[in-house]
Amino acid sequence: MPNVVFHKLGVTYAEDVPEDTNLVVNTAIKRFPFPHLTFGCGMGKCARCACRVLSGAEHLPEPNWKEQQRLGPRLEQGYRLVCQLWLKHDIELAQDAPVRP
Ligand code: FES
Repeated sequence: MPNVVFHKLGVTYAEDVPEDTNLVVNTAIKRFPFPHLTFGCGMGKCARCACRVLSGAEHLPEPNWKEQQRLGPRLEQGYRLVCQLWLKHDIELAQDAPVRP
């Protein structure tokens, strides 16, 4: 069961989630980290769900074409589109400022 640590506006939230949890889907159905995760389309188009991965990035798949297109050089800074991630391992994320596509 992955442990998710989520930082937003100076506050830290943490919870265990079932394997293969998508945090945007979870938030949409009012589960952790609802109501703190900002998101939009849920389909890799708007980048509003972008978060910096602080730890656990090594367990994530390579960014897909949507993440490459939307995030560009921000991928190098550790950003990922959370709507494109199904979590299988512990992860620590921060959503500090909206990422403009
Ligand atoms: S919610 Fe729109 S790109 Fe993730």
